[in-house]
Amino acid sequence: MFDFTADPDLPKPERYRQLADAAEALISGENDVVANMANVAALMAEFIPGLNWAGFYRLVEGELVLGPFIGRPACIRIPLDQGVCGAAAKSGQTQLVADVHEFPGHIACDAVSASELVVPVYRDAEVCAVIDLDSPTKGYFDADDAAGVELLAARLSGSI
Ligand code: SME
Repeated sequence: MFDFTADPDLPKPERYRQLADAAEALISGENDVVANMANVAALMAEFIPGLNWAGFYRLVEGELVLGPFIGRPACIRIPLDQGVCGAAAKSGQTQLVADVHEFPGHIACDAVSASELVVPVYRDAEVCAVIDLDSPTKGYFDADDAAGVELLAARLSGSI
């Protein structure tokens, strides 16, 4: 049994450090990318409060394809010129969107999503996936969330 318990009272940077450490512990020695993404999706839902969706899209033959996640069923394929996820994968840059309804081309998979954070994951200097977090609260994510998820993405490099 794995027992990674998130402490909601910890400051965000420390909570994200614990999330990254837990993720590393879970994926170390395992080379099945689906198993690793599935466990990390579960950890993100555990450690990051206030989400309605947390998971992965993988870059497969030039488009994003849905990976393991926690949340409601979502769009399966996203072209790189569409959505917040496409923008993150295409630019290689984190996308922090305070109000998804203001983001041109945002793809509404779950009508309750109001803000979104998408962070690219790299393998051999190329984007191989994105981490996507959605919240039903406008302006939910801040620079600490972006830095924390970027730390997690860096630790996953080579394991997903
Ligand atoms: N909103 C995303 C699509 C994925 S769902 O949020 C799970 C986007 O605009 O890329």
